Amino acid sequence: MEYWKRIPDKEVVKEGVELAFAALRRHVQARPKETWVGLSVAAASIFIWKYGQDLRHRYFAWINNKFYYMKPQEYEDFKHKVFTCLKDLTSHDPKLKEEKSLRILEIGAGIGANFDLYPNNTHLIVADPNPYFEKYFSENKANFPNIKIETIIVAKGEDIDMVESNSVDVVVTTLVLCSVTDMPKVVSQIKRVLVPGGKYIFVEHVHDWDTKNHRIRRFLQGMLTVIGFWPFIFDGCHLNRNPLPVIDAVGFSNVSSNQDYAPLPVWWMKVAQPHLRGVATK
Ligand SMILES: C[S@@+](CC[C@H](N)C(=O)[O-])C[C@H]1O[C@@H](n2cnc3c(N)ncnc32)[C@H](O)[C@@H]1O
Repeated sequence: MEYWKRIPDKEVVKEGVELAFAALRRHVQARPKETWVGLSVAAASIFIWKYGQDLRHRYFAWINNKFYYMKPQEYEDFKHKVFTCLKDLTSHDPKLKEEKSLRILEIGAGIGANFDLYPNNTHLIVADPNPYFEKYFSENKANFPNIKIETIIVAKGEDIDMVESNSVDVVVTTLVLCSVTDMPKVVSQIKRVLVPGGKYIFVEHVHDWDTKNHRIRRFLQGMLTVIGFWPFIFDGCHLNRNPLPVIDAVGFSNVSSNQDYAPLPVWWMKVAQPHLRGVATK
């Protein structure tokens, strides 16, 4: 078969392009406003498609930093309850044991919202996929000279294979499992890196469990997530998740948790008020 015959002639292509431009020109002259709106929307879509993730990461790091300073002391106290188990722990690492310190891995550390909950001399490894947190993290870290940063990993919790198995005493996630792409994989990674007897501390907002009295909140949590509004504004955050079945299924020797309504300061944050707090032991 003579395939070359199917390739359009150069003249035909030129004529086609000229016709298309002439049609566009006529359209612009007839409806200038609509055309420019259309072209602007197309250009903005291409821009968001190309740079959207990067812009969202920048914006999310910035807004998280703002929220951090808005959170009331009651919320810190609410989190603190599950961190009290740290005071009875000793490190598996003989050197750290001698120093009376612990090796903690925090996944999704953000700006370092939990520095104040760690014991003196904590050796901290942090993993977060958003590189724009680093600036705020460093600024915040300056207030906590009692914490030693061992490693900063810019990666998702799913992809922390570089952290050795059975190497950390404690893993922490606070408000992170709502955003991860593959929750079972993250929780498996957490169990893998923990030493036997190590603790996984979690504080996560969840889908409201009260189907009778909080039907409206449950509906809003589902709706805002399903239409993509909440995940878009808050970098992939889902309001309608419950990580407990995943944590239970991964094979910790013990999981102790409770559900409670967190004290959050602003009215619209009430949609994220139902929380799950707990400690799982490997
Ligand atoms: C709502 S912020 C919470 C930050 C901090 N832990 C806190 O308590 O304020 C969610 C964090 O999870 C991080 N994150 C999102 N997806 C992640 C993933 N797949 N693995 C690890 N962290 C992730 C985000 O970059 C962000 O730092």
